[in-house]
Order: sequence, then C-alpha cells, then structure tokens
Amino acid sequence: MGTLVPSDRQEAKMAQTQTITVAMGDGIGPEVMEATLAIFRAAKVPLRYDVVPMGRKVAEGGEPSGIAAEARDSVERTGILFKGPMETPKGTGYKSVNVTARKLWGAFANKRVYRKLRGVPIPVQIRGELNLTMVRENIEDTYGAVEHMQTHDVAQCRRFITRPGSQQVHRYTFEMAQRKGAKRVTCAHKANIMKMTDGLFLETFYEVAKDYPQITADDVMVDALAMRLVLDPASYDVIVLPNLQGDILTDLAAGLVGGLAYAPSANIGDGICIFEAVHGTAPDIVGQNLANPTALLLSGTMMLRHLGLERHATVIEDALEKTLDRMHTRPDLGQPIPIFRTSRFTELMLSHLQDSPAITGAPSAPLVAKRQDPKMMVTPTPDRIVLLGVDVFLESGLAPRAIAELLEPLGREGLRLTMISNRGTQVWPTGSPHTDCVNHYRARFESEQPLDQRALIALLERVADVFPICSSEWLREIGGMRGYSLAQGQG
Ligand code: NAI
Repeated sequence: MGTLVPSDRQEAKMAQTQTITVAMGDGIGPEVMEATLAIFRAAKVPLRYDVVPMGRKVAEGGEPSGIAAEARDSVERTGILFKGPMETPKGTGYKSVNVTARKLWGAFANKRVYRKLRGVPIPVQIRGELNLTMVRENIEDTYGAVEHMQTHDVAQCRRFITRPGSQQVHRYTFEMAQRKGAKRVTCAHKANIMKMTDGLFLETFYEVAKDYPQITADDVMVDALAMRLVLDPASYDVIVLPNLQGDILTDLAAGLVGGLAYAPSANIGDGICIFEAVHGTAPDIVGQNLANPTALLLSGTMMLRHLGLERHATVIEDALEKTLDRMHTRPDLGQPIPIFRTSRFTELMLSHLQDSPAITGAPSAPLVAKRQDPKMMVTPTPDRIVLLGVDVFLESGLAPRAIAELLEPLGREGLRLTMISNRGTQVWPTGSPHTDCVNHYRARFESEQPLDQRALIALLERVADVFPICSSEWLREIGGMRGYSLAQGQG
C-alpha cells in the first residue's frame, strides 16, 4: 500500500524524515490508529508512514501468518512496526498474528510502563509515586504453542525456557533499568515448582545482575507478586518475568492504572521493534466512537523516545494529561464519569497541541542489519553430557500395577523400570489409592551406567509392542547435574 506523506507543508520540508511501518489492525485498530497519526501530525512528528496489510483480512485471504509479503519487506527495511490490535480466533483457525510478528522479528522483550495519569480513575489507592516498568520475555515459555493431544483425554503444551533467551531478556532489562536510573530490578518466577525452567530463568537473572552492581537485584514468587502489586505497586521499580506469568501480571498492573485502555507496550528486538497497545480489537465497541486511543498513543510516545524524539514525546504526553483531565471527571468531585468519545479525545488533543512550540529534531533509528540466516545463540556447553535413561509416555487405561507388570520384563542392558507416574505424581512402585489416574502414564527406565541412545530406541521398540507410545524424553546428566525432574513423591 502507499506511503502516507504528512499533510503539513512545513513538515514535508524537513530534511531527515524517517519512514516507519504502520499496520492499522482489526476491530477498533483503524479508529485508534487514525486518531494517533492525526495527533502525531499535529505535533509535527518527523516521520513518514508506510501503511501495510496485516491481520485478519490477510489471514483469511490465504496467508495464514496474517502478514503480507510487502508488510514483511517493509518492516525488515524500516526496523519499526507501529501496529493496531489484531484479532485471533479462539480454539481453532489461524495463529495469533501478534505473537507471530514478535517471533518472526525476534522482539524478545515486551516492555510496559505504568504511570498514574492525571484525571484517570483508578480502582485502588496507590501509596507513593508509581513509576513501574515490567519486562515480559516475549518468545519462549508456552508461547511456542507446541501442543499435542497425547491421548483423547490428555493435551500437552511444551514449555521452553532457554539459557540464551533468558540472558537476552535479562541483559535488556538491566541495560534499560540503568538508563532509567532504576535502583532495583526484581525477577518474578515460580522456581519452587518448576525448578528446571523457572530455575534457569532465575539462575541467569542473577548471573547477568553481577554486571550491574549499582542496581539491587532480588526475586519474588509470582503469586506473591500478584498480591503485592495490588497492595503496594509503588514499592517496585523494574520487574522481569517469563512470558505467560508476564502476560497475566502485566494486565493486572494495567488494571491498577485504569485499565487496558491506558496500557502501552514496546516489543524490543536486536534489530526490529514493534510498538502496540496492550488491549485487543474490542469487537464490542467497533465503529461506535467509543475506542480510547490513549494506549496506542502512549505506545507511540515510547516509539518516539526509542527513535530519539524525546521532546515530541513529552509534548504529546503533556497534551494527553490535559486532555484526559478534561475528559474524565475525577471521582473525588462526586460527578458521573462522562462517556468517552474518540472524536472528542482527538479534538481536545489537537487543540492542546495547537499551542505547543515548534520542535526541531530528527529521528535516530538504529539500522537494521540485513540477515541471510538466523543468529545462533549458543552458550558454552559442559564437556560431559551423559545419557542415563528415558521417560516413555504411553496410553493405557490399566491400573499402575498392571502396567508395571507388563513393562518390568522389558528392561535390559542395565535399564530398569524405576518409576511410573500419572499427571506428574508417582503411582508405582509406591503411590496412593487416592491419586486419580488418567489414560496417560510416564514410565521411567534408568541405568546406572551411561547409555548409547540406540539402547533406548531398542527399548522403545519393545514398549511399542505392548502399549501405544505418545512421546518420550531422554534422561540426561549435563555437566554433572541431573537434567530431569523427579516425579511428585519420587526420591
Ligand atoms: P479486548 O482488549 O479487545 O477487549 C476487552 C474489553 O476492553 C472490551 O470490553 C473492550 O471494549 C475494552 N477495550 C479494549 N480496548 C479498548 C479501548 N482502546 N478503548 C475502550 N475500550 C477498550 O480483549 P478481548 O475481547 O479479549 O479480545 C478481542 C480480540 O483482540 C481477540 O481476537 C484477541 O485475540 C485480540 N487481542 C489482540 C491483541 C493485540 O493485537 N496485541 C491483544 C489482546 C487481544
């Protein structure tokens, strides 16, 4: 699609005008994006907009990623995507275009900033000044959506937490915290339960923290954080979280400052960055002049700062505070809150910007390095990696003892059936009659001596003669550390 050239003549004259890629989005996307670009033009933001097709229409038109080839080219050329919300069908249909975009362009850190905006009613009293930034890991965790029906009754989603991916997001978080002048960075996790995955996220956090001795690094269980964010959010400075926990807790924090309509976000990558509001397409209010552009506008000011247009961002945010103050009636005045109107919001913004002084300055976007192949992110691997067994996941409606009787004779060459679990809880050799079972068992075969993987493949063939195998996992010791968890009740 075409390039929207700024209408203002003076602006068109500006020598250094950078182009960014814009996707209008689905649902209320076009309404909030048009309002935001009108405000940018009024603030004389020196940018050009390459508007590209992305979202539902593209996905339904036969491109399942929802990202047209020209959109992909544009983003890889400009390095910046400013996007409206995009629809994702629930349960079936094409995958989330939003998640695809973040993964496709390696936007590994999702940064969200929470401030209390003047005039915006909030549900809880906040003690002190809220200046909270949350960084959510954006690529890994269960968001790979690597899912399989293991049996008719059992669905599985694989959760990936990687050392290089965690290092990348922690490094970004500490660098950003340093620039922000933050005194404290907190890592949220559930490493008491998920000792391998969240344990790795936490371990890498403290490793990276050593390079930033002037910043206090601490950690918190994610469930405790949920409560503390409600009771005393201003006590936190910067928080970094894994993807799914981050998804939930960042929305909780959005509620604290007035709701999704006030929650901006930036998806940061090494080369390409994506700026978007946190909210979705709001299908219930499309075309009714009710969509609030604030979150997209604030995502836009995050983008302007990223491009070095600090003063343009500040002028827009000052106008925004004045606008919101006039649009919302503060609850302490005891008056009803008037209905939000997109058109009124835009009018007020434009009138406030009319009086603002002309700002000079050109954007300074980082260049996007051309890539032929993906970057390999590999850390030094320990010399000694030893194969010690296999977890075989199999389908059966038999009771645990009957399964053990069929499996025990299959262990050979030092391989021994050591444990059977169901839904993660050990049910053999010991277990409780109160543990209800489903038709999906894990049978663990272990050896005291290092194994060749062919011995395990031969074992799988023997098991396959008796049970349908759903999947399997090698048991490895990596650098002297057991590389697999024990079942609940084992060991
Ligand atoms: P939603 O955020 O679209 O709507 C939730 C509620 O908030 C609705 O009542 C809506 O009217 C209201 N709302 C949201 N943004 C608003 C705004 N700017 N002004 C005024 N009210 C606003 O969440 P929902 O309904 O769960 O999702 C709808 C669609 O959006 C789904 O297809 C979902 O996958 C997609 N989505 C896209 C996102 C993105 O593009 N990054 C993020 C979240 C959801």
